[in-house]
Amino acid sequence: MERKEFELLYPQDILAHRIKELGLEISHDYEGLNPIMVGILKGCLIFMADLIRTVSIPVEVDFIYASSYNGGVTRDETVLVGRPKKSLTGRHIILVEGVVDSGHTAVETAKAVKEMEPASVEIVTLLDKPKSRKMAVNIKYRGFVTDDYFVIGFGLDKDQKYRNLPFIGRVIEP
Ligand code: IMP
Ligand code: MG
Repeated sequence: MERKEFELLYPQDILAHRIKELGLEISHDYEGLNPIMVGILKGCLIFMADLIRTVSIPVEVDFIYASSYNGGVTRDETVLVGRPKKSLTGRHIILVEGVVDSGHTAVETAKAVKEMEPASVEIVTLLDKPKSRKMAVNIKYRGFVTDDYFVIGFGLDKDQKYRNLPFIGRVIEP
């Protein structure tokens, strides 16, 4: 980005603090349940890595790959490409998302996971954009509720770029 195309929304220390709170809550709620945290790639990347390190109970980790036909800012259709490698049957599943926007990805993924007959399925997302919601999503844990800005960084991309930014920025529309 040559010009200033984004502004800081959540700096690293704020993210770390909130993620630690989420990890504590999950550790408390899932004590003795040996949950599987299933990350929805790729947006979960950084959040999941940080979140699992704040969880103090035994957890297992797996991934599901959700992708859209549309590479840009909006997403019309969700395609689940990868399936978790482990059996989720009878297990307590925590789906880990970077951001819930329209709700398509979370709903489709939860549906696919429920077909595997887990004991329970909940969703944790770092960011929740309820104003963009097109379908109801039952989110159990959310890091931050944001306006319907397009955000980048901390695993979240714009055209596959900026996932590596260590903070979350809001894209400024020209
Ligand atoms: P949904 O399916 O519309 O809820 O969108 C969820 C997915 O869209 C996320 O996993 C992201 O890949 C992408 N997405 C939605 N909003 C943003 C954003 O503000 N920044 C980056 N990616 C986003
Ligand atoms: Mg994306």
